[in-house]
Amino acid sequence: MNAATPAIEPHTPVVHSRLPQVGTTIFTVMSALAAETGAVNLGQGFPDFDCDPQLIDAVYAAMRAGHNQYPPMTGVPALRQAIAAKVQALYGHTCDAQAEVTVTAGATQAILTAVLAVVHPGDEVIVLEPCYDSYVPNIELAGGVVVRVPLTPGTFRPDFDRIAAALTPRTRALIINSPHNPSGRVWTREDMLRLQELLAPTDVLLISDEVYEHMVYDGQPHESAARYPGLAARAFIVSSFGKTYHVTGWKVGYVVAPAPLMAEFRKVHQFNVFTVNTPMQHGLAAYMADPTPYLELPTFYAAKRDLFRQGLAQTRFRLLPSEGTYFQCVDISGLAVPEKDLPEGDFCQWLTREVGVAAIPLSAFYGNGFEQQVIRFCYAKRDETLRAALARLARL
Ligand SMILES: Cc1ncc(COP(=O)(O)O)c(C=O)c1O
Repeated sequence: MNAATPAIEPHTPVVHSRLPQVGTTIFTVMSALAAETGAVNLGQGFPDFDCDPQLIDAVYAAMRAGHNQYPPMTGVPALRQAIAAKVQALYGHTCDAQAEVTVTAGATQAILTAVLAVVHPGDEVIVLEPCYDSYVPNIELAGGVVVRVPLTPGTFRPDFDRIAAALTPRTRALIINSPHNPSGRVWTREDMLRLQELLAPTDVLLISDEVYEHMVYDGQPHESAARYPGLAARAFIVSSFGKTYHVTGWKVGYVVAPAPLMAEFRKVHQFNVFTVNTPMQHGLAAYMADPTPYLELPTFYAAKRDLFRQGLAQTRFRLLPSEGTYFQCVDISGLAVPEKDLPEGDFCQWLTREVGVAAIPLSAFYGNGFEQQVIRFCYAKRDETLRAALARLARL
């Protein structure tokens, strides 16, 4: 040590946590346990198969073409135009690719950015539980007040009387998610019309998490908020290429919002991620020219859902509907094992260790850990993975 250097005792300052409640997520815990025990991992929601090689070729071509420097802050124009064209074609909503579409680092960043852009300390934000685990910490980071409204127990349908009762003059935003993770429920046209009517006399903003927009089955449409002018005029509509194109690790998504809302969104986006990686955006723009991959997604995933449901129908699990997403929830109360009466989280640990299949407890999607003997499986897996899981679950 240099003799002139004064002796100091290095120490790391203690931090007063901004998110004291947050620990390791259940998804990380269950994936780690699945890896450790060799269980079939139907826990965390990601495909175990690869994306279309043409998409990879498109990204590679973009890199070779020299698209490797910062793109515009709002996203590569060709991709924003492709997104606007898709929203127009599918939902009849005209949005300006220049002012009303922003490419984000996945839906997670999009939702956080939307919340930070519009929620002031003390503002109330309504979430419908069970809900995706990032919403509540996002609101807390903004200094907002989380208002939890349950979806109807058993059916997971929106309860508009309860949502109406939760609205106050301090309500700044409502976060909805259809198709819904974890339940697999899909909001209907009636639901969206009721929501539109409910919000019409208010200044409540809507954050509509539509990452599973292309996974709606049985011939049903996806009721995007973009279809409803009264909702679109107050909404940040969020989607994710990770879900649509089987590339969850790429972390590219987007937001559509009216220009004044988007202007505020971009102020936060600019000093958060600033830009999203360039070659992926060019590759996605080129790949989007053909709508077939996302138009065929319902057929692709419905086949997996049906394979998985047919297998589970041979067990004592009670199947809940899976109208959309790639999740299948099951009620465990009829199982003939004593572990069915454990808390859902402990049951999932047992299922992973002793039966060899990882799942996620629904209680993880509630702030108060609400228990209802329901767990979630992900069927975005190769057919052989699903069959291997079913072979193990067959004893239940
Ligand atoms: C409901 C919901 N919203 C958002 C996300 C995050 O999407 P992304 O990977 O694009 O950040 C997920 C991923 O599981 C999700 O299920």
